[in-house]
Amino acid sequence: MTSRKTGNNHHRLDSLKEEIRRLQTELATTRAALEAIINGRADAVVGTSCPYLLKAVEAEEEVRKLLQEKDALIKEIHHRVKNNLQIVLSLINLQMQNERSSEIRDRLLILYNRIRTMAAVHEVFYKTEFMSSLNLADYLERIVVHLFTVHRVDESKIKLVLELEPFQVSINTAIPVGLIVNELVTNSIKHAFDGVPTGIIKVKLGSTDGKSCRLVIEDNGKGVPPDINWENPTTLGLEMVKLLAAQIEAKISKVDGPGTSFEIFFSCP
Ligand SMILES: Nc1ncnc2c1ncn2[C@@H]1O[C@H](COP(=O)(O)OP(=O)(O)OP(=O)(O)O)[C@@H](O)[C@H]1O
Ligand SMILES: [Mg+2]
Repeated sequence: MTSRKTGNNHHRLDSLKEEIRRLQTELATTRAALEAIINGRADAVVGTSCPYLLKAVEAEEEVRKLLQEKDALIKEIHHRVKNNLQIVLSLINLQMQNERSSEIRDRLLILYNRIRTMAAVHEVFYKTEFMSSLNLADYLERIVVHLFTVHRVDESKIKLVLELEPFQVSINTAIPVGLIVNELVTNSIKHAFDGVPTGIIKVKLGSTDGKSCRLVIEDNGKGVPPDINWENPTTLGLEMVKLLAAQIEAKISKVDGPGTSFEIFFSCP
């Protein structure tokens, strides 16, 4: 009787020891997996026998896949918007080629450039790996260089100076800023050097405090005529500049001459 009891106790002790060993092994595996996660090596966890960690790794993998799908969809949207705008641009272009009146051709070109400025944003977003922001400096350079080309500016006479520091901004900032630059640089090309043989157009982008961007568009031409009140404009170009600046809560001012210079501050976190 006593020896059977002792035998049972031994057996229970053995299975208890076995259970402790099993738990110790599981604890060691879990600890190793946790350390791997902390060290950023989630891949090292795959294959461990800890069920909770395996679930976490699978969930992380699922989230990663969903994010990739979301990025691909956003890219696709930018691609389609760009293509649709491209069709609109081609239609305007065709109309321009068939138009006899140079005045109407000029108006169509202005319209073409406004739409192209917006299409360029979607093109940049489509090509970039970042989905939520773009490099404003690259985008503005693209717009200005395009304006010089389509207005056939003779760069030996009218020099372009670009001093653009790189800033990542969202599409909500990029489009209004792009359109403002489009309007003001177009004005400099069209109006500043009327009858003046040479000149300089400068576009500068920088920051004073790291939080807000300072954008300057200036030319050393004849200056805006005194009868034009740029703060209460009656013409579409300057009216657009005012409305677009308000849209991004920018502070805009015209710096006293010679020439024409606009200074714009807007937040670019
Ligand atoms: N940089 C500049 N130098 C000289 N005059 C300018 C300059 N910018 C604007 N102006 C004057 O201000 C006027 C108003 O400019 P605004 O851009 O509003 O109209 P616009 O260029 O004539 O036409 P659009 O509506 O196509 O822009 C111009 O017609 C021009 O006389
Ligand atoms: Mg204008």
